[in-house]
Amino acid sequence: MFQIKNNIAAGVALVVFLTSLAAFAEGDSSVDATKADTAKSTQKKPTKKKPTKKKLSKAAPESIASKSDTVTPPSDASAPSKSDVAAAPQSTPSTPSSSNNPPTPAATEVPPVAVTKVNAPVPPNAKVDDTDSAEAIKQRSGSGDPVAGKDKSELCQGCHGEEGISAESTAPKLAGQYAGYIIKQIRDFRSGLRVHQIMSDVAKTVNEDDLPDIAAYFASRKKMKGNGSDNKVGQELFLHGDMSRMMVACVNCHGVNGKGKTPTNPVFPVLGGQHKDYLRVQLTNFRSGDRGNSPGGVMNIITQKLTDAELDALANYVSGL
Ligand code: HEC
Ligand code: HEC
Repeated sequence: MFQIKNNIAAGVALVVFLTSLAAFAEGDSSVDATKADTAKSTQKKPTKKKPTKKKLSKAAPESIASKSDTVTPPSDASAPSKSDVAAAPQSTPSTPSSSNNPPTPAATEVPPVAVTKVNAPVPPNAKVDDTDSAEAIKQRSGSGDPVAGKDKSELCQGCHGEEGISAESTAPKLAGQYAGYIIKQIRDFRSGLRVHQIMSDVAKTVNEDDLPDIAAYFASRKKMKGNGSDNKVGQELFLHGDMSRMMVACVNCHGVNGKGKTPTNPVFPVLGGQHKDYLRVQLTNFRSGDRGNSPGGVMNIITQKLTDAELDALANYVSGL
């Protein structure tokens, strides 16, 4: 019984936290430095230490407490409310604080709507436009100038492909990726928050003023797309997660077709159609803690309970989207 309660508490904390992350990111299409700093402050340095449930249930309410004053829950948070949520500590009846109130201790801060999400069956129908319409391209390209970016990204094209489709499966495709995500990764490589033998050095050579243009160039290319995959294990985990292990489905953040959460939200990268090898390496690195730059360590938490075979299945399925 104790074990079950513990699991529910951890699950509630995780889902509340994930909801806050999604809400925090909602509609954020700008790539300015303020936003990047905000994102950074929620991140941890890469660490070998695996997040534990205990840590998770403590950390999550704090993070929502600091954000719940400034964000509204995402529009897809209207999940049916279930009564067994009452077993969780965060379900203490509370009202969301007004913007005048200073943050008060975590447990009472959680808006009821976020708590109900624990029982939200996935998947929501987030399907980001991948038709490469002029509007979709504009939305994902941010404020940079893609024409100027073409010349400025010659070096990058050597490895990532002229049209953002890399030939080597260890170098990611950047075609149609959100500009804001590309910018964040370059900054993370530069600061050491994300580490890679080649990219850490390359990122230091990129002028901050050129970065939005370079990112806009790759974002404006024809979006990466896979050739389909019939991997059932990967599909099941991607669309439904595994609540017996408190594993939230990928679709919540990466969308049904793996193209992101909303057309204007650069926090959640395009995964669908990415190289399988690259995806597998990233998932493995998140699980080990070698990559620790996802906001709040969310990807480290998600991959924690997945086996090698499951990571492989996910990489297989996602690369086909
Ligand atoms: C010598 C080859 C090489 C060059 C040149 C290069 N990259 Fe990379 N890039 C890579 C590899 C390999 C990775 C994968 C890193 C990893 O596994 O973590 C990568 C990763 C990235 C990522 C992360 C993408 C994601 O989906 O998370 C971005 C963004 C990126 N590169 C942008 C650039 C830009 C912009 C330039 C030019 C300024 C550039 N790269 C030049 C090889 C290269
Ligand atoms: C709660 C939201 C959330 C969920 C659920 C989630 N992700 Fe992520 N994921 C993110 C965010 C945010 C990033 C961007 C990290 C960063 O900024 O570096 C990311 C990054 C990634 C990347 C790296 C992409 C790249 O180009 O390097 C992969 C791969 C990935 N996620 C796969 C998955 C898979 C597979 C699942 C399900 C098992 C999943 N994610 C579930 C939020 C989520």
